[in-house]
Amino acid sequence: MLRKTTLCTIPALLLAKLIGAAPSGNPLSNPNYGPKPGESPLYNDYLGKAPPFPANYTKPIAPTKSGAPGPDDVLWQNLLSAEWVIYSFYQYGVETFNTSSFVELGLPNTTYTRIQEIRDNEAGHLRIFQDQISATSIKPGACQYNFDTTIGSKPEDFLGAALAIEVSSMLFLTGLVQTAKLDAAKGALTAVSQVETRHGVWALLDVYGADPFSGPSDTVFPYANEILDLTTDFIVSGSCPSANPPYPNPSQNLPPVGIAMGTKSVAPGATVQLNFTNPANQPTFDSKCDYYGVFYHGLDVISTLLDTTKWPAQPINITIPAEFDAKGIVAFVITTEEGAPTLDSVVTRPNVFLQQPAGIGALFSI
Ligand SMILES: *[C@@H]1O[C@H](CO)[C@@H](O)[C@H](O)[C@H]1NC(C)=O
Ligand SMILES: *[C@@H]1O[C@H](CO)[C@@H](O)[C@H](O)[C@H]1NC(C)=O
Ligand SMILES: *[C@@H]1O[C@H](CO)[C@@H](O)[C@H](O)[C@H]1NC(C)=O
Ligand SMILES: *[C@@H]1O[C@H](CO)[C@@H](O)[C@H](O)[C@H]1NC(C)=O
Ligand SMILES: *[C@@H]1O[C@H](CO)[C@@H](O)[C@H](O)[C@H]1NC(C)=O
Repeated sequence: MLRKTTLCTIPALLLAKLIGAAPSGNPLSNPNYGPKPGESPLYNDYLGKAPPFPANYTKPIAPTKSGAPGPDDVLWQNLLSAEWVIYSFYQYGVETFNTSSFVELGLPNTTYTRIQEIRDNEAGHLRIFQDQISATSIKPGACQYNFDTTIGSKPEDFLGAALAIEVSSMLFLTGLVQTAKLDAAKGALTAVSQVETRHGVWALLDVYGADPFSGPSDTVFPYANEILDLTTDFIVSGSCPSANPPYPNPSQNLPPVGIAMGTKSVAPGATVQLNFTNPANQPTFDSKCDYYGVFYHGLDVISTLLDTTKWPAQPINITIPAEFDAKGIVAFVITTEEGAPTLDSVVTRPNVFLQQPAGIGALFSI
């Protein structure tokens, strides 16, 4: 049978090529410009110290069309701003360390190469997210970041922070999927979250020599922007390009909550003392209201009533639900309602624990 030659469907990208729709001005606004994720080795195994495309261009990319924003533009803008933090973190690692930095810790001599490869994947995410934002919306640029002062300058500090960042990425992606309007966006977000998981699994196996598994389901957290808020600690205040949209958008500006220094365990069943770490952004607890610690692990959500009545004279203690298995990620927030049914019921930033690898300070909290 002869194939029909009529083009019944012209894919949008092809159409853009056919009609010469490459926007004038900034070439990066054209998704066909530059190395393509999924095609170019740049996003896999480029081993240079210089920033790879598109991170060699850090300014916001202006819209090239007027009109209504795409249905998921705000979501992708948030994710692109988050990705600038994450990409820049790995780029900082690539620029700051070398193969010997990690070999001297007794780690495999491939460790630095993996960090370069993760950096490349994250550069690919930058390009993917830029291309997901429609031509009617601005694509946010990079800010300045303060990794040297926030995470410490030792290679082991960097590796611990890398695991924290991968785990946070997995968490906020499970939230963003829930707010995406387009099915294709949900698929893309899920696919990207798998890559963050692979990075985390590599670190658990090769860096920490740990069992990398997380139980039958990884943790779902519904309020992605609250997790994105955690990444703002790495942004130098006032350093973002003025054309960038706010990040995260919207932000509740919730008070951050950490675990008291010297905490020995965040394993299930452990009682830990909370520390509201930003003196300029402390919570307020109304004595007429109940407050809950709401914990997320896998698909499970467990709420525990908190005693906030003596705070701030006495610290608030919280017990990690003993029901949870000691695997993977636990996230918690303080809320005004059991189960945190609405965004507005959440009154602190989330805190995130990783239950493995045991031994690196139980795990970490961010
Ligand atoms: C960024 O990288 C791309 C692809 O490697 C290259 O074509 C472009 O000239 C670079 N731009 C700058 C400003 O270095
Ligand atoms: C790696 O970095 C260390 C510390 O900066 C430096 O002393 C060493 O020469 C570097 N090694 C290589 C192979 O570049
Ligand atoms: C890395 O280590 C392996 C053994 O663990 C060794 O065979 C290989 O030669 C080393 N490579 C380099 C570049 O040092
Ligand atoms: C609470 O956090 C603040 C700010 O990071 C820190 O200075 C203080 O030592 C912490 N307190 C405890 C008990 O961990
Ligand atoms: C709170 O937890 C800390 C650390 O586990 C413990 O030392 C302290 O006694 C606890 N306080 C209360 C009131 O339970």
